[in-house]
Amino acid sequence: MRLSVIDHPLVAHKLTALRDRGTDSPTFRRLADELVTLLAYEATRDVRVEPHPVTTPVSPTVGVRLSTPKPIVVPILRAGLGMLDGMVRLLPTAEVGFLGMIRDEETLQATTYANRLPDDLSGRQCYVLDPMLATGGTLVASITYLLERGARDVTAICLLAAPEGLEVVRTAFDDVAAVTVVTAAVDERLDSSGYIVPGLGDAGDRLYGVV
Ligand code: URA
Repeated sequence: MRLSVIDHPLVAHKLTALRDRGTDSPTFRRLADELVTLLAYEATRDVRVEPHPVTTPVSPTVGVRLSTPKPIVVPILRAGLGMLDGMVRLLPTAEVGFLGMIRDEETLQATTYANRLPDDLSGRQCYVLDPMLATGGTLVASITYLLERGARDVTAICLLAAPEGLEVVRTAFDDVAAVTVVTAAVDERLDSSGYIVPGLGDAGDRLYGVV
């Protein structure tokens, strides 16, 4: 597993505002959206492109365009939805699939409750959106699901990660596949309820309220 922690003052500034418990949901959604676009810039550094001829007002030249099959973006429901707009702003022609994962609050085990994805992901580059890499259970289950369908490489974009979760992902995929985690920060630890410390609280609740 490759880990990329984005060291940039704007990333740190937006993350600090997200952490603030006084930040309301509309502001939280806007900041999360902006932060994802910054993370996505780095996360798509290895997106596959192919040569593409173009004629400028001055002369013909050769540029690039996204290769086919196009990348697929997979927000993990529900909190990953808050990252979707910020991601597709940068990759507007990507396809979007959905994966619903729920975490049992006692066992902390993740299970799939919904999926809208192509059966065949052969050769596809996948970008998984999950704001909080906490225990790693949700991310490991999601990435496993994509690799079983033939995904070629998977990049997870997380606003925050815990060392414990990163270790779980690293152990699960080190010898198996090209898996990259891109995040704004690696925090101190998990608490006994599986929350990231200092973290930003429950990302889904802060985005959408407690329902
Ligand atoms: N999920 C969240 O939303 N927040 C955490 O801190 C951990 C998991």
